[in-house]
Order: sequence, then structure tokens, then C-alpha cells
Amino acid sequence: MTFSRAIKIAPSILAADFANFGAECRTVEAQGADWIHVDVMDGHFVPNITFGPATCAAIRPHVRGVMDVHLMIAPVDPYIAAFADAGADIITAHIEAGPHIHRTLQAIRATGKKAGLALNPGTGLDGVEHLLDLVDLICVMTVNPGFGGQSFIDLSSKVRALRALIGDRPIHIEIDGGITPQTAPIMARAGADVLVAGSAVFKGGSADTPDVYGQNIRTIRHAAETAIGHLV
Ligand code: DX5
Ligand code: ZN
Repeated sequence: MTFSRAIKIAPSILAADFANFGAECRTVEAQGADWIHVDVMDGHFVPNITFGPATCAAIRPHVRGVMDVHLMIAPVDPYIAAFADAGADIITAHIEAGPHIHRTLQAIRATGKKAGLALNPGTGLDGVEHLLDLVDLICVMTVNPGFGGQSFIDLSSKVRALRALIGDRPIHIEIDGGITPQTAPIMARAGADVLVAGSAVFKGGSADTPDVYGQNIRTIRHAAETAIGHLV
């Protein structure tokens, strides 16, 4: 994984066909997805349950590029090794998931994986500066986590402040929730480089109609890149 601030589109398989994850991942990658975003929910940290490390391991052979695993679980630490063994490239934990996020990020890094830090919409940047040396990605949630298909919350000022805080450090800014061709430009202009999109990528298509996914991905990417004048 070489670091770049170029816009990356990361389809969230939360909006894919759960009975067909392998084909869905292969199809969106073939249609231009940069990363595959995998939403793990525990019914405790968030009010919804998806799947765990066994499903991530099953998906892994179908993902050629980056598998970006977003853990919406608490506690996190007992499960880090399992998600690392499942083949995650990036493991992201929430700052709100427990009292010891610093330790959690250290533990993720210790597995040799990239470490991500996710922030709920109601969480500020206090404390983030003390974690910058431990993270490869910061995920700004623009919906309250738990469900796909929710309305985008415009947190431009938070993203801009985060972009300034990061400076020249090789840390990705990922936006997760409500990303569409209308909202992607707002976040790209604010400084995001990874755009997670579930509904907006998978809507109207299936693994049998790959062109739909391709068009959806191109439309989001084009909107974001146009907004920043392709300057990355
Ligand atoms: C929300 C998840 C998101 C979600 C995004 O808890 O973390 O990744 O799937 O879905 P859309 O793009 O439909 O808002
Ligand atoms: Zn997510």
C-alpha cells in the first residue's frame, strides 16, 4: 500500500448481496473500486449485527486490493488478532469503543496491519492529536454508525480541521456514511481522500449487471475529483 491522497472509492459491502459477497467484491473491484470496506457490527456498540472474522476470511480471497475493516464493536482488543488473521489490511476501531484507544491502536499496529481511528458524528477532535503517530487512517463518520442508507451529516468543518491537524503526515481521511455524487464533492473539498459508499455504489445493480456498479463508482469519483480540480 503506497500512500496517496488521490481520491479512493471504497464500496461498503453492507449494501451488497450478503449471499454473494465473493462475486460482489470481485465485481466492484473490476468496475473500479479502490478498496473494499467491510462493516463489522456487534449489536452492542451499534444497534445492528452484521458478521465477524470468519466472514472476513471468506471474503479475503475475492479481494485483490485493500480490505478495509471497520470495527463497530466493543470491546475491540480481544478480536484484533482474529481480524488480522482474517486478512484485513486496515483495521479501524472507534475512539468511543472503550477507555484505551491508544492501547487498541498499538495492538493493531503490532499485528503488522494498518491502524484506523473512527469518530462518531458527535465526537470532536480532542485527543486525536495524541494518536496521530499511531494511525494510518482517520474515519469521520457522517452518519451515526449502524445502518446503511442514512442521510449525510455535513461535517465539513471537522474534516477541514482534521486535515490541518494531519499536515504532511501519511494519514488517510476516510468519510463513511451518506456518500453520493452530491455529497462526495463536499468531503473531497474539505480534505477527504477515501470515500466509503454503500447504497450509492450498489443501488440498481447486482453482480450480474456489473455496468451499473461501474457507472455508480465513476459518477462518485468524477464528482469528487472535479470538486478538487484533480489536484491531489
Ligand atoms: C454505517 C457504515 C457505513 C455504511 C455506509 O454504520 O459504517 O459504511 O455502510 O452506507 P451508505 O453509503 O449507504 O450510507
Ligand atoms: Zn463503515
